[in-house]
Amino acid sequence: MPATPSHTHNPAAEALRERILAVSGELPRVAVVLGSGIKALEDLVQGGSISYGDLPGFPEATVAGHQGVLSWGRSAPDGPPVLVARGRFHLYEGHGLGEALTLVACFAALGVRDLVLTNAAGGLRADWRPGDLMLVADHLNLQGVQAGFPGATDAQDAAGLHAVEPYDVAWRGRLSRAAMEAGIALREGVYVGLLGPSYETMAENRFLLFSGVDAVGMSTVPEVARAHSLGMRVVALSCITNISITPTGAAETSHQEVVDVAKAASAHMETLLRAAIAVAPSRQG
Ligand code: HPA
Repeated sequence: MPATPSHTHNPAAEALRERILAVSGELPRVAVVLGSGIKALEDLVQGGSISYGDLPGFPEATVAGHQGVLSWGRSAPDGPPVLVARGRFHLYEGHGLGEALTLVACFAALGVRDLVLTNAAGGLRADWRPGDLMLVADHLNLQGVQAGFPGATDAQDAAGLHAVEPYDVAWRGRLSRAAMEAGIALREGVYVGLLGPSYETMAENRFLLFSGVDAVGMSTVPEVARAHSLGMRVVALSCITNISITPTGAAETSHQEVVDVAKAASAHMETLLRAAIAVAPSRQG
């Protein structure tokens, strides 16, 4: 089943397609979303870039640490062409679900087949440290909205797209191998998407920990649900920027701390992304 419903009219995707084809002649099949403070893939070769503000229908990226720029090119000479979104749209910014899914809709209309999402998240495991990276194995949706399609069509049924495992096994394998080869410890766990924008109370953190959650964030879940419903292969990596639960009580955090730690952990994130993308299938499949 194609990742892109070909009838989808998406003016931003059309503008982007024109721009990308004019520069590099090849549309990206892999898209990466960089969350708060995460800096990676800055040197895409043969690529170009465009501000979100120059794309029709794109809301403004309002959150500090989110640049609001899309750039494209190859991250390795033999790797697939890749599109990188620096910053995303959150429900807590006051966006509706449609706006929060602006990037996913644009990627789908462009024919993107693989979606690699990154985010900053609070860790709930006492033995984890700020700067650790976590492969998202599963998620809990506590944002109060469901972005996946309400019912599976026969085609989706056949493809298993309504299934309970939206995180692509092959991508998880690529990232795990990349981590092993680079000697980077990669955690694996369950991510919960909360609405935010405030951080959690200790009671909430204890509740979440008890519920099987390892990392807490305010994004990603709707993007995963929608992209998966559209037939994309999806994977997500969290940068644990703070440990939200401590034996002694409240663990204060701030957006600045989140951005600073994510920046500091970006070299590891970069290594994993680059290595995994380099061995990703370069053709639509
Ligand atoms: N909670 C929710 N979202 C977050 C956190 C947190 O502790 N850290 C980074 N994003």
